[in-house]
Amino acid sequence: MSKKNKYIADENRYEKMNYRRTGNSGLLLPELSLGLWHNFGENDDFKNARNLLKCAFDNGITHFDLANNYGPPAGSAEKNFGKIVKKDFKSYRDELIISSKAGYGMWPGPYGDWGSKKFLVASLDQSLQRMGLDYVDIFYHHRPDENTPLEETMGALDLIVKQGKALYVGLSNYRPERAAEAFKILKDLGTPCLIHQPRYSLFDRWIEDGLLDLLGNSGVGAICFSPLAQGMLTNKYINGLPKDSRAVKESPFLNTQTVLEMLPKIKALNEIAEQRNQNLAQMAISWILKDDRITSVLIGASKTSQILDSVKAIENTTFSDEELANINAVL
Ligand SMILES: NC(=O)c1ccc[n+]([C@@H]2O[C@H](COP(=O)([O-])OP(=O)(O)OC[C@H]3O[C@@H](n4cnc5c(N)ncnc54)[C@H](OP(=O)(O)O)[C@@H]3O)[C@@H](O)[C@H]2O)c1
Repeated sequence: MSKKNKYIADENRYEKMNYRRTGNSGLLLPELSLGLWHNFGENDDFKNARNLLKCAFDNGITHFDLANNYGPPAGSAEKNFGKIVKKDFKSYRDELIISSKAGYGMWPGPYGDWGSKKFLVASLDQSLQRMGLDYVDIFYHHRPDENTPLEETMGALDLIVKQGKALYVGLSNYRPERAAEAFKILKDLGTPCLIHQPRYSLFDRWIEDGLLDLLGNSGVGAICFSPLAQGMLTNKYINGLPKDSRAVKESPFLNTQTVLEMLPKIKALNEIAEQRNQNLAQMAISWILKDDRITSVLIGASKTSQILDSVKAIENTTFSDEELANINAVL
């Protein structure tokens, strides 16, 4: 690449973001992190993907979250990310926290899914190769597996750290009881669980029923995915269904019917956000960040303007009792 096109990160980036300690660990994460589940696959616009990562980093977002199966097709987000790291982020590797995961189906046969040691170790090797990295900062077991002894899955995470292929480990989508067992096994192995990655938003509050307390009491961090309910908790659907939105594009994860059903609540929440001088996306993120047991909010974005919009959420993360009561009344 010619010197003219070389990416140089904004020198003021660290002034634009707040960083929170991840549980009891030594690791600080940005209040907002960027996930590569959508918009980084084979059929997505590579230039846009590149701009999204640069925009995030320029705004102090030092954490990029991936998984073996992000794409589509599975693996392509890691491949594209690897290309972008090579082009733009090589000299910034030590300023980045990069995560990946395994737990969902990746290749045919009995060793390409769930939670065996065989799957986790092989999958991370493949992820590292796709991304062109020597190690990831955080490696997650992506979902619980009732048919594999927890000792084996946690043993695989411990092995991966001891092999130097990940610095820290995390769990995703684990319910509190199984998470507590896993934390104990990991602690005994000498590889404490750094962080848990659950879904959490105004529209999905399951972690308030035990998981958040467990994480707070165990000194384990929390990074919440789909904080905007995949775009529903923004003002984008209020005046119709934009053609380039996730609900209208062919996503198996969000459909227009769900959006239409939620619309009355979306509109009512938008009014509360406006009274706080925020837009709905900003309020939805702030609402999660009001709890100091949360380490980071893991957003997705299809446009750089969305990242610029969402980062403003960190400017106001306190809520009055009246605002919280009004929000709860809508929900
Ligand atoms: N561990 C797991 O099992 C798991 C599962 C799911 C996700 N995740 C992680 O969490 C990350 C985020 O998930 P997500 O993409 O569902 O998060 P999200 O933040 O709830 O939704 C992102 C979508 O919301 C819209 N959006 C974002 N900011 C906006 C703004 N300021 N104004 C208007 N619209 C805005 C965009 O939709 P349009 O595309 O319509 O523009 C964007 O693609 C993933 O990338 C992944 O890393 C983990």
